[in-house]
Amino acid sequence: MKKTILTGLRPTGNLHLGHLFGAGQNWVKLQDNYNFYLEIADVQALTDNFDNPEKVRKNVKEISMDLLAIGIDPTKVNMFIQSQIPEIAELTVYYSNLVTIARLHRNPTVKAEIAQKKELFGNEGESITYGFLGYPVSQAADITAFDGELVPVGEDQLPLIEQCREIVRKFNTIYGETLKEPDSYLSETKRIKGLDGNDKMGKSLGNAIYLVDDEETINKKIMGAVTDPNKIKKDNPANPDVCMVYYYHKLVNTKENIETICSECKKGTRGCVQCKKELITKMNEFLKPIKERRKVYEDNPELVDKILKEGTQKAREKAKEQMLKVKKAMKIDY
Ligand code: TRP
Repeated sequence: MKKTILTGLRPTGNLHLGHLFGAGQNWVKLQDNYNFYLEIADVQALTDNFDNPEKVRKNVKEISMDLLAIGIDPTKVNMFIQSQIPEIAELTVYYSNLVTIARLHRNPTVKAEIAQKKELFGNEGESITYGFLGYPVSQAADITAFDGELVPVGEDQLPLIEQCREIVRKFNTIYGETLKEPDSYLSETKRIKGLDGNDKMGKSLGNAIYLVDDEETINKKIMGAVTDPNKIKKDNPANPDVCMVYYYHKLVNTKENIETICSECKKGTRGCVQCKKELITKMNEFLKPIKERRKVYEDNPELVDKILKEGTQKAREKAKEQMLKVKKAMKIDY
């Protein structure tokens, strides 16, 4: 029997290269060999976007199209919308008894997000809601509602999986062996750096290349990418290892070209402008098939609706089954 994978993402913006090289490619690889549930986590997105429902709604479709464009195959993966599975909300209520407030505050991912909000919005960051603080509980419900055994995520999500495991253990100890403890499944590729050299590519950091960026946008972004600050003149030798342009060449260019770029850069026979132009061409070539696949869905939005509807239906069946087991264990199976 195939093992069950459950993973998800928040619909708060389009997918960028960080998503693609991080989790995305890994998901595409895994879809052949697992029973795969892919959750568009709109309820989770609402925890810190509750005052912007249009944004979340729009991005449910956007992200679905992005996922299909990178090669998620709807015949292999149940893509579903979190808010349409009421059992997840129900489980969240029961699990919330099994988690202390102090433990949620200690969750490193939640902690980092709260710190980031403070940095971005000043005092507003201090008005953290009950819903936001509790989203790890809801994420534990996401995973266990489908009997998820493996959760392929990036490193930043590990504390959430750990918290899910704790909830599962506590549930099983109190109510009897019912839920499976999921394992996280780290993708091989690690975090992708931003155009500005930041360790993380992120929407809020303004340093990302999106899959939907048009050629003009890509042109502008790559021309502004950070290069070796010690290289002043075109023929100065430079250090490719501190250059974002070289970093992205390594992601989208051929092995042979990468070697040439590296040695020319070190020797000082390669100007940054030329190097950026070559990267722009390669980046566009790289994104072309993704954009072509996406266009089919942009032109036929009813296809996306159908995929989400069917994925959600299948997910709901599984979640209902799980709910019966949970209610029985908790002696609320009236
Ligand atoms: N927290 C994840 C993110 O921000 C999204 C997510 C929601 C998720 N539910 C999940 C990931 C369940 C793994 C499993 O990207």
